[in-house]
Amino acid sequence: MTPGASPQALLDVRALSKAFGGLRAVDAVSLAVHEGEILGLLGPNGSGKTTLFNLIAGDLAPDAGEIYFAGRPITRYAPSRRAALGIVRTFQLVRALLNLTVLDNVLVARLYGREPAPSVSRARAEARRCLEIAGLDDRAGRPAARLPLADRKKLEIARALAARPRLLLLDEPAAGLDQREVDALLSLVRGARAEGITLMIVEHNMRVVHALCDRVVVLSAGRAIAEGTPARVLEHAAVVEVYLGRGDPPVRPLTGPR
Ligand SMILES: Nc1ncnc2c1ncn2[C@@H]1O[C@H](COP(=O)(O)OP(=O)(O)O)[C@@H](O)[C@H]1O
Ligand SMILES: [Mg+2]
Repeated sequence: MTPGASPQALLDVRALSKAFGGLRAVDAVSLAVHEGEILGLLGPNGSGKTTLFNLIAGDLAPDAGEIYFAGRPITRYAPSRRAALGIVRTFQLVRALLNLTVLDNVLVARLYGREPAPSVSRARAEARRCLEIAGLDDRAGRPAARLPLADRKKLEIARALAARPRLLLLDEPAAGLDQREVDALLSLVRGARAEGITLMIVEHNMRVVHALCDRVVVLSAGRAIAEGTPARVLEHAAVVEVYLGRGDPPVRPLTGPR
């Protein structure tokens, strides 16, 4: 345990900052994610959510601040080393290997992720289990390229699950999904949590946020401006202002579940 690191936090982000030229995309953000928790990360487009994920996963290096994972300072670790510790992320735009089948996409992740399966047959069995959790088991043999968007998003999550995450970062998993598809996503995420995975979710869909998140953090122009339970935070005047003050709000915090 590193002196000063929060003993309960699986992820502890301290005063993390990242600028692009003069733009402070992430500005002195501090937050903690506790083991077993689902933390929502909210904020309008451009508020720094994806940049924060990039910093946590190691795809970007911060200008300042520290990141601790399970008490270990990982701020300068490469993405592969963070993945080996169990930090796995999905992308806002799906990145499946389109020329492979659904099962092979997950199999690859199971063979090359953290704690790779000891044999291909074991990996295949475990990959099938990830497809089951993701609700894709009946499409295992299909080329990934032929999947509709909702199934590609499930595949992205199945691949992430196959990498055995301790902390799974989901970037807008419900974007573009209809109501029924969102319901499937909710059970998928609950299934992941039941497997012992801690989650951080960027999401604009308030039904998803209310249904899943134990706690949310709201970003505005790179700064964390509010933190608490979804119900409390979404009543918060400053949060409503952030969303409603910018034409085209991505969420309707006052109307509740859609
Ligand atoms: N690689 C980059 N180079 C320059 N500017 C970037 C880059 N990535 C993000 N930004 C800018 O940083 C800000 C935060 O972006 P982002 O983290 O993607 O926001 P969000 O995910 O909340 O919509 C935006 O103004 C965006 O244009
Ligand atoms: Mg984003």
